[in-house]
Amino acid sequence: MGQNTIKVKREQIKMMLEKFSLSLWQWYLKGRGLSLGKGAKVYPFCLIDRPQNVSLGKNTIVFPFVFIMSQNPKGRLFVGENCEINSFSTLLCGNGIEIMNYVLLSPGVKIISSTSYYKPNWLIASNPHVGGKVVIEDNVHIGTNAVILPNVRIGSGSVIGAGSVVTKSVPPNVIAYGVPCMIHKKREERKM
Ligand SMILES: CC(C)(COP(=O)(O)OP(=O)(O)OC[C@H]1O[C@@H](n2cnc3c(N)ncnc32)[C@H](O)[C@@H]1OP(=O)(O)O)[C@@H](O)C(=O)NCCC(=O)NCCS
Repeated sequence: MGQNTIKVKREQIKMMLEKFSLSLWQWYLKGRGLSLGKGAKVYPFCLIDRPQNVSLGKNTIVFPFVFIMSQNPKGRLFVGENCEINSFSTLLCGNGIEIMNYVLLSPGVKIISSTSYYKPNWLIASNPHVGGKVVIEDNVHIGTNAVILPNVRIGSGSVIGAGSVVTKSVPPNVIAYGVPCMIHKKREERKM
């Protein structure tokens, strides 16, 4: 057997193993109630505490090392079709997260839908969770390591810069970035 044939065989075995581990992982998550659209993928090493609270639409991909925490039995995550959630992103869904279609979350994005209510003289860990749903509309790109805080809605077609902390809702079709995140310009229509 020539060197090239060995290389091709190795690649084939690698691809088969990857496919098998992906199918096994998805089979396990679906068995625990995950709703997965046609062609959607959730890679191994993605941690989901309550798969029954998560719905992923057609062709959506969740890469390895994504953390999806519902925080309480009512905390839900809904992701539409053709979205990408890249590695090292964390989604805390205590008060609900809704991501519509064609949304790209770059690596390390944090979406936080709840926070502690700090009662004076209470142990912080025992404070109740408060906050509100986060909504990301269609065709949004969130740059790497951006943080989206509770009650924020990001309008369709908008871009959030890398490292931003988004404390307030962002309208459609703008480019916004910074800490706190501010609108810097409208998204121009560019010719391809
Ligand atoms: C926000 C972003 C889209 C802005 O792009 P742009 O409109 O082309 O902006 P420019 O590069 O022309 O920069 C304009 C100004 O904003 C600043 N700026 C750009 N991005 C910034 C960011 N994320 N945070 C803070 N300031 C930023 C630039 O330094 C520049 O400042 P100056 O005018 O003082 O020189 C881009 O910088 C970005 O963050 N993209 C996300 C990249 C990413 O996460 N990719 C992952 C791929 S999966």
